[in-house]
Amino acid sequence: MRLVLLGPPGAGKGTQAKRLSQHFGVAHISTGDILRVNVRQGSPLGKEAAGYMDRGELVPDALIIRMVEERLHAPDCQKGFLFDGFPRTIPQAEALDALLDAQRQPLDRTVNIVVPDEVLVERATGRRTCPACGAMFHIRFDPPRQAGICDQCGAQLVQRQDDTEETVGNRLRVYHQQTAPLIDYYRRKGLLAEVDGRQTIDAVEEAILAALRG
Ligand code: AP5
Repeated sequence: MRLVLLGPPGAGKGTQAKRLSQHFGVAHISTGDILRVNVRQGSPLGKEAAGYMDRGELVPDALIIRMVEERLHAPDCQKGFLFDGFPRTIPQAEALDALLDAQRQPLDRTVNIVVPDEVLVERATGRRTCPACGAMFHIRFDPPRQAGICDQCGAQLVQRQDDTEETVGNRLRVYHQQTAPLIDYYRRKGLLAEVDGRQTIDAVEEAILAALRG
C-alpha cells in the first residue's frame, strides 16, 4: 500500500494518516513532523526550515526531496507507506514519481480530503498536540478528558507555533497557489479519490477506506 493524503492545512491529514497507517500496517511519513523534530533538535535542516515554517511558507523543494528520499530507505517503508503533507508542489510530485519509478513501486492512490477554508481556520487554531507522545486533540471537536492534558501520557498539551490565525491564513494562501494544482496532477494520472472532510473523524476514515476499496 503506497498512498498520498492530500488536503489543505487542518483538513485532517495527520489525524487520518495515524489511523490508516495502523489499519494497513504501513509507515506514516509526515514531512511536517520530521521537520518539527529537526527544529526541536536544532539540526542544520531544522535551522534552515524554521523560518519558513513560522511564516507559513513552504520549505524549499530540494531540502524536502532529500529528506523524503532518506526516509524512504528506512526498513519500515518496505511494507508500504502513507505520505501526509508531501508532495506539496509539482516539482515534489515529479521527484516522488522518479524515486518510486526507480524502485518499481508506483503509488497506488492519492486521497484528497476536501474541506472549505472557513472550517480550516477553526480546525487549525483549536488544535492541541502532545509534545511527549505526539497525540493530537481539538479543543472543540476532539477535546482531551482534562483540558490541556494529554489523555494518553498525561503531559501538558501545546499549540503549534504556526497555528495562529495569521499564519494559518498564510498557509491557506500558499496551499491554494502551490499545492492545490496537485489535485489535477493526480486526477490526470487516474490516481485521485476525493472524500468530504467536513464529516466526523470516524466518518472521514470510513469514507477513505471505502474509496480505497472502490
Ligand atoms: P504540516 O505539518 O504538514 O501541516 P499542514 O499540511 O499545514 O497540515 P496540518 O498538520 O496543519 O493539518 P492536517 O491536515 O494534518 O490536520 P490535522 O489532522 O492535524 O506542515 C507544517 C509546515 O511544514 C508547512 O507550513 C511548511 O512550512 C512545512 N512543510 C511540511 N511539509 C512540507 C513539504 N512537503 N514541502 C514544503 N514545506 C513543508 O487536524 C487539524 C485539527 O482538526 C486537529 O485538532 C484535529 O483534531 C481536528 N480534526 C481533524 N479531523 C477532523 C474532523 N473530521 N472533524 C473535526 N475536527 C477534526
